[in-house]
Amino acid sequence: MSRIDARIKCNIKCSCTPYNNETDGAEQYSGVILNISLGGALFQSNTLHEMDLMTLHFSINGSDFNIPSRVLRMEDKRTAVRFLHQKGLETISQLWEFIFDNLKLQPGICPYCDSEIKNKAEQCPNCGLFLNFDSKNYLIEHINRTAYQRIAQRIQDFKADQKWSIVNILDNEFLKDKARYDDFEFVGTCPEMLQAFSLIRKIAPTEIPVLILGESGTGKELTTRAIHERSLRKGRPLVTINCASIPDTLLEAELFGYERGSFTGAYNARKGKIEKADGGTLFLDEIGELQWPLQAKLLRFLEDKTVERIGSRKPRKVDVRVIAATNRKLEEEVQSGIFRQDLYYRLNTFTIELPPLRERGQDKVILAKYFLKTLAKENGATKKKMSKESLEAIIHYEWPGNIREMINKIRRAIVVSEDMEITPKDLSLTAHFTPFIDEKATLKEVKTRIEKEKILSVISTCGGNLSKTAKTLGVSRTTLYNLKRKYDI
Ligand SMILES: Nc1ncnc2c1ncn2[C@@H]1O[C@H](COP(=O)(O)OP(=O)(O)OP(=O)(O)O)[C@@H](O)[C@H]1O
Ligand SMILES: [Mg+2]
Repeated sequence: MSRIDARIKCNIKCSCTPYNNETDGAEQYSGVILNISLGGALFQSNTLHEMDLMTLHFSINGSDFNIPSRVLRMEDKRTAVRFLHQKGLETISQLWEFIFDNLKLQPGICPYCDSEIKNKAEQCPNCGLFLNFDSKNYLIEHINRTAYQRIAQRIQDFKADQKWSIVNILDNEFLKDKARYDDFEFVGTCPEMLQAFSLIRKIAPTEIPVLILGESGTGKELTTRAIHERSLRKGRPLVTINCASIPDTLLEAELFGYERGSFTGAYNARKGKIEKADGGTLFLDEIGELQWPLQAKLLRFLEDKTVERIGSRKPRKVDVRVIAATNRKLEEEVQSGIFRQDLYYRLNTFTIELPPLRERGQDKVILAKYFLKTLAKENGATKKKMSKESLEAIIHYEWPGNIREMINKIRRAIVVSEDMEITPKDLSLTAHFTPFIDEKATLKEVKTRIEKEKILSVISTCGGNLSKTAKTLGVSRTTLYNLKRKYDI
């Protein structure tokens, strides 16, 4: 196996202490580092005791390094450690400077895998690593290109649920602010989606407000981006405000902004999202959640296109195009007096309705194959395929969480599947069929099973958000709590 990082021979004095025990008087063992790379080191110490984690201390050109490290091997007084870099790129860059200065590159030989390189290649034809050591961006390029291998090397012996936890950490910690849909094309071939695409193309270059309707996860945000990107406002901000995720008391300030001192805690004046969208598009997501008093204030803004920040009487002119979306049946909410009719008419000049995934026929298979291909590429698992049974399960499943649920299920399946073919079990789609084929089950057992599975599935697609789950299931929160208790969920 080739190395991931260039390694150099050296002779650097070092010491090590058990990890997290570096106070004065703690055990300290001295030694000499014999070789070092960005990822780890090999050092010799005659006195070292066995330990799993340590901090390695050494100095290079006047800079001190104290790097937490995991012991990989201890043999013959020689210890190999992997660095557990904790402090971003700074330590790595300093270390790289030293390694680079001492790298003895042999012309025509790859320093990672020792294979022969005929021409001056940027990339080793054998191990694929970046070889342009003179490039200013070498380190960044190298880290970018080897990130996947680094992670794969570390998690190869993990169990499926540990790998799944890691995927969740990546999603929740690192990707929480990054819209994942950037990676996906807008896919659809069924007549309803072709109709939606045609409407997007027609409406995008105009200034007309758009109302997008569709269940959760059907692509309302993607549609908004598609409109914005095809409009004359492209390149200007697309500002999203999710009316459901912010408490009403804060939503007004978020939308309209405020002046300094207008309420306790308003230490500085702040622009609201409407002003931030000036020149661009304002996306009012989950507009159906907007409470009555704010509906009136929003209507006033839509009529005269001026905002007054909280605590100010000065109207400010703002030029935005408004796109609103909701998964609620707004028309019914108007009839029952929850949503203002005048605001509904303002927003509803042009409507695009996205069909639920269960009604998209063969698109379910097309989308599943597309997501598998795209997501597998991200995971370096390009050869994975859906089994025949999986495709069947995908067609028959109801997809209550629509496309978002499909993406989540496929992303998970890629990680947990052990073979090249993804099975319905990898997609967690088996449970939905068992009640039907279990000949001996009583009707009551089947009903119970289906109800429990449905609740579990919606909780999972709503990311554990019980209000959203209750809404999707069409029950009150109290009913949901009772059902959870009943089924011990
Ligand atoms: N037709 C499609 N082709 C490819 N990807 C899609 C399609 N529709 C939706 N997606 C992807 O599915 C995910 C969910 O879509 P999006 O966030 O636009 O849905 P939404 O209707 O806004 O959902 P919610 O109501 O839960 O906010 C995103 O990652 C999006 O890129
Ligand atoms: Mg959305």
